[in-house]
Amino acid sequence: MEFVELAKLRRSAINFQSDVKISESELQEIFEIVKTHPSSYNIQSTHYYVVTSEEKKALVKEASFGQHKTLTASATIIVCGDTEGYKEAPRLYEGMKLLGILDECAYNETIEAINNLYSDDLTLREEDNIRNACLSAMLFMLAAKDKGWDTCPMHVKNVPIIKEIYHIPENHQPVLMIPIGKSVKEKIRPRGYRKPVGEFVHFVD
Ligand SMILES: Cc1cc2nc3c(=O)[nH]c(=O)nc-3n(C[C@H](O)[C@H](O)[C@H](O)COP(=O)(O)O)c2cc1C
Repeated sequence: MEFVELAKLRRSAINFQSDVKISESELQEIFEIVKTHPSSYNIQSTHYYVVTSEEKKALVKEASFGQHKTLTASATIIVCGDTEGYKEAPRLYEGMKLLGILDECAYNETIEAINNLYSDDLTLREEDNIRNACLSAMLFMLAAKDKGWDTCPMHVKNVPIIKEIYHIPENHQPVLMIPIGKSVKEKIRPRGYRKPVGEFVHFVD
C-alpha cells in the first residue's frame, strides 16, 4: 500500500469482529517489519507479549476495566521496554565487530558509552523504554494495517495483574496495550479533529 494512504487508513478500532483469528505466522510477518524500528543505540529493548486465547483475553478485559475490544480482538498485545536491555549491547554489537564494520576500539567505545549513559540512571532507562516502545508500536500498527489488520493503542491498566497474566518479568516495563483484529465495519468513528500544521509545528529560524 502506498505510504500516505496507509497513514490515512490506520485508525483506532472501536471494536473487533469476535470470530476472527490471527495465526502466529501472520503475526510473525508483521513483527519482521517491526524489527526495523529505531531505538536508542540500537539496543532494541522493546518486547511484545501476545495472547490469543479466549481465556487469557477475558482476564485482560477484566483487568482493563471491561474494555470490550481487549476480548473481541484476535490478539491482545502488551508492548514492554526492558529496563536491563542496555546490558545486551556487547552481544548486539559483536557481529559488527566480527564483520569488521566496527574495529575493537570503536566497539569498546560504544559499549562504554552505552554503560555510561544507562548503568546509573534508572529514570533514563524507563524513559527510553517509552520512547523506543512507542516508535516500535507505531510501526507495528502501520505494518498491521498494511496487512489488513486493525489496531488500537491503549494504556496498560492494573500493571501488576497484567504482568501476572502475561508472565511478564520484573524488568519488562509495560508501555502500551494493543489489541489487533478486524474492525467492526459499522463501528468506525469519524476521524477526530486534527490541528492544522501551523498549530503544532514551530519553525524557529
Ligand atoms: C496512549 C493512548 C491511549 C489510548 N487509549 C485508548 C483507549 O483506552 N480506548 C480507545 O478506544 N482508544 C484509545 N486510544 C486511541 C485514541 O483515542 C486515538 O488514537 C485518537 O482518538 C485518534 O484516533 P485515530 O487513532 O483513529 O486516528 C489511545 C491512544 C493512545 C496514544
